[in-house]
Amino acid sequence: MTRDNSLQVDKDGNLRHFLCIRGLTSNLLTDILDAAESFAGVTEQTVKKVPLLRGKTIVNLFFEASTRTRTTFELAAKRLSADVLNISVAVSSTVKGESLMDTLSNLEAMHVDMFVVRHAESGSAHFIARNVAPHISVINAGDGRHAHPTQAMLDMFTIRRTKGKDFGRLRVAIVGDILHSRVARSQIHALNLLNTGEVRIVAPKTLIPAHAETLGVHIFHDLEEGIRDADVIMMLRLQNERMEGALLPSEQEYFQLFGLTEDKLTAAKPDVTVMHPGPINRGVEMDSIVADGPRSVILQQVSHGIAVRMAVMSMAMRRVGMGGERN
Ligand code: NCD
Repeated sequence: MTRDNSLQVDKDGNLRHFLCIRGLTSNLLTDILDAAESFAGVTEQTVKKVPLLRGKTIVNLFFEASTRTRTTFELAAKRLSADVLNISVAVSSTVKGESLMDTLSNLEAMHVDMFVVRHAESGSAHFIARNVAPHISVINAGDGRHAHPTQAMLDMFTIRRTKGKDFGRLRVAIVGDILHSRVARSQIHALNLLNTGEVRIVAPKTLIPAHAETLGVHIFHDLEEGIRDADVIMMLRLQNERMEGALLPSEQEYFQLFGLTEDKLTAAKPDVTVMHPGPINRGVEMDSIVADGPRSVILQQVSHGIAVRMAVMSMAMRRVGMGGERN
């Protein structure tokens, strides 16, 4: 995927599109987290609106099913006082360059200001960002197996709120279907940029991507070893829809070996925080008792998604308001 950072950040370092964590600076990530902190205040008030994006039109363009991501983007846009258009497009799994561009051109002709895009094809958000009119910002809401940067940022925000700002003292274990997970990829880049003490990935050999060691992680194939003394455990869903061939014996066997139970959780630190981006396959990745238990912050992750998406959207649009011309 591209490392062309000029696509995401302008020459003054301001956010222009938000496509992937890779290539961004730790300062920018920290700015997003700080802005999210102030927006979390807004979303907790009785009047939950600020006028920052009044008069702007944001299009949620979802080519793939989503509940939480789409609705939290919509709520975030509304809480920034933007007008929101939700478009769900059913397409085949291939980016059909021309027809996709046709859709975009039609929306551009309606003078929209931002596309929030989810697509089954890796690289689609970059493709759109390269081809839209210069005044439009593109936010990646998940592209294939590649990236899901706002999910990673809401996860970082949740860790910061639960464990404090010093990621250097944290041992974080990401458990599950790393191979097919855009969330894992974005989480790993974000954790490393924020200088996390140790980042581990824990999965059967068949669900670890090739060359995973180059990502700056320690690899484990045993759950209890992988979560030993962990401060944070980030569970991932088995991406059955992306599995080709038999990568796993059965869901029952997966649960036996990699399912997080109260019993297995005792290997981690007593104050461990358990996360999951959702949707959860209960009884496959984790036991309901853990998902709904006192260490779980899974629903807080959802709430934080609104504040973090408000931060990203307002930062990407800020260049228009403050600087006048956008390049
Ligand atoms: C994730 C996604 O869509 O990549 N979910 C989400 O955004 N809340 C993870 C998943 O689908 O398992």
